Amino acid sequence: MIENQPIGIFDSGVGGLSILESIRQTLPNEQLIYVADAANAPYGKQSDAQIVDHSLRVCRFLIAQNVKAIVVACNTATTIAISAIRATTNIPVIGVEPAIKPAVEQSKTGVVGVLATAGTLQSTQFEKLSNLYGKNIEGREIELITQPCNGLVERVEAGDIDGPIVTQLLEQHLQPLLKRNVDTLVLGCTHYPFLIETISQITGSAVAIIHPGEAVARQLEKRIGQESQLRVKTDQPSIQFFSSEVTERYRFRFEALLKQSITLQSINLPLHQS
Ligand code: DGL
Repeated sequence: MIENQPIGIFDSGVGGLSILESIRQTLPNEQLIYVADAANAPYGKQSDAQIVDHSLRVCRFLIAQNVKAIVVACNTATTIAISAIRATTNIPVIGVEPAIKPAVEQSKTGVVGVLATAGTLQSTQFEKLSNLYGKNIEGREIELITQPCNGLVERVEAGDIDGPIVTQLLEQHLQPLLKRNVDTLVLGCTHYPFLIETISQITGSAVAIIHPGEAVARQLEKRIGQESQLRVKTDQPSIQFFSSEVTERYRFRFEALLKQSITLQSINLPLHQS
């Protein structure tokens, strides 16, 4: 039965767990497989060819696990590699892109900030998205201000979500946006939702923060629903966690972010065949 096959979710590291959490809430019956490509993290600073290569290797592993859909729980891999992934498989592939459209729609001042990796912000797909939604909308002038956030992925990977180093980095990244009076902030990297509390302490409550998890989970529900592949069994679904680099410390990171104990299995990613 296809509906009992798992859904594969991947990111360069632990960031995609923020998307996994939303998927678990929206689709509590689904079996899930999560892959962190920690051996190759962070993706954001690498060339497009490297990001495509890493993503295809992870997807090959997931497809070998018989997944019925893949969620690319990484903005960088989505903007750069999703077409290459879709070209290798017929199963639904759902990506995560910076949520510019909803941010622009809900912004009152029309000044919207986007936090993302340099890789995402430099991608052609991001340029398309900002041309589509980040200019004038329904006669309103929109100002889209982008901020590459070097160093944040590494802090979250290191388990630092509220310490002095990450707080200082966030202040540096957020001050230019606050000076320009953004009222809505898009978290354009799946690692950043784990920093929401620290971010909102700096921005204050007047700035709305957009986390894409729920929209991605709903899109996934719609896509697998269209294929009549939603799992209806309500027994405890299995959730497996893999990483291309496994240490005790890294497992603790997963456990701290998920607030539960887990088994973290090691994988050797197969070479993709082009
Ligand atoms: N979570 C990834 C994203 O959403 C991080 C990318 C990276 O590894 O740099 O972009």
